[in-house]
Amino acid sequence: METITVALGDRSYPIHIGPGLLDDSNLYGASARQMLIVTNEIVAPLYLDRVVAALRGRQVETLVLPDGERYKTLATFGTVLDRLIDANFHRDSCLVALGGGVVGDLTGYAAASFQRGVDFVQIPTTLLAQVDSSVGGKTAVNHPRAKNMIGAFHQPIAVLADTDTLKTLPTRELSAGLAEVIKYGVIVDAPFFAWLEQHMDALRALDGKALAHAIRRSCEIKAQIVAEDEREHGRRALLNLGHTFGHALEALGNYERWLHGEAVAIGTVLAARTSQALGWIDAATCERIEKLLALAGLPTHASGIDPDALLAGMRGDKKADKAGLKLILIKALGDATVTRAPPEATLRAVLAEQLA
Ligand code: NAD
Ligand code: GLY
Repeated sequence: METITVALGDRSYPIHIGPGLLDDSNLYGASARQMLIVTNEIVAPLYLDRVVAALRGRQVETLVLPDGERYKTLATFGTVLDRLIDANFHRDSCLVALGGGVVGDLTGYAAASFQRGVDFVQIPTTLLAQVDSSVGGKTAVNHPRAKNMIGAFHQPIAVLADTDTLKTLPTRELSAGLAEVIKYGVIVDAPFFAWLEQHMDALRALDGKALAHAIRRSCEIKAQIVAEDEREHGRRALLNLGHTFGHALEALGNYERWLHGEAVAIGTVLAARTSQALGWIDAATCERIEKLLALAGLPTHASGIDPDALLAGMRGDKKADKAGLKLILIKALGDATVTRAPPEATLRAVLAEQLA
């Protein structure tokens, strides 16, 4: 097992990474007497019993939600709060999020809101959640017209990334998580990007050593960025590489055509090609990024998308302000920056070429 710390003063917490962690009661870090484990109908039959067993000796309640992004809503959030109140939970209770990013974001938001904030532990069971969503304290539910628009910053007290849980993850979901792993290489760590080029086959074959390294390095990078800029006043926005394009694509695909990580992969290519159009990087760097995403089993292009519809969707991004849209663009492999979007004509030309 390896442990990384997210350094946030008295709100610092460990991220434990390794096989078989679910069963280790010492890692949960919670002294609370009352614990509510929130999970979903896919993950519960696989792992819930083991988490309940690890927490033996306390009042443990479980809540099994339906599966899917479409349940990441205020209504489901209400269901979690109903359960806490029905079970007479107190201020010193603790929520446990057992599942992917949907369960993690929703449970985290419930923990942020119940009694103005109680402890929660993240047990991410998808690669995307282990390398990204379970770390850093962004919690949210979706508004019917806007993803992640309702939420709070609320850090967990511990993250347990049990790499064995990835053995049951569908291949497509594993690839979606790899999009976020590749992101870290592109934004701040060119040697990690090169390591991924060498080890992509091992990662897709769930080689334990390779997976542990990729998750550890991803969490180290995220932990450092979050420690520097918890509330995303600057550098944390780098973690959104490809996401402004990606979120707009997800919406145009009715959240069905692409998984989040798949849309981020296409968005990363669009960010790279926009950077190339500005003369920041060359075609060879773009091709290297595209090739690694494809090696990870991810789509790199979207067809049948109207550039103007995508641009309209991008204008609704959370990073947009009165002065307009901001994008994460690439100055060199391992060196990304947050910048005002280039003139619309430049963006439209890139989109027209890439989405043809
Ligand atoms: P998800 O939670 O929907 O999980 C993907 C699928 O895998 C689901 O069907 C789930 O039930 C299933 N699953 C989970 N673990 C499994 C396992 N071990 N074995 C078999 N099946 C398993 O999706 P996700 O990709 O984990 O997360 C996406 C969500 O994360 C989105 O809502 C996104 O907005 C959010 N997100 C949040 C942050 C953040 O910083 N908070 C960052 C990135 C993404
Ligand atoms: N996933 C983006 C962030 O945590 O800031």
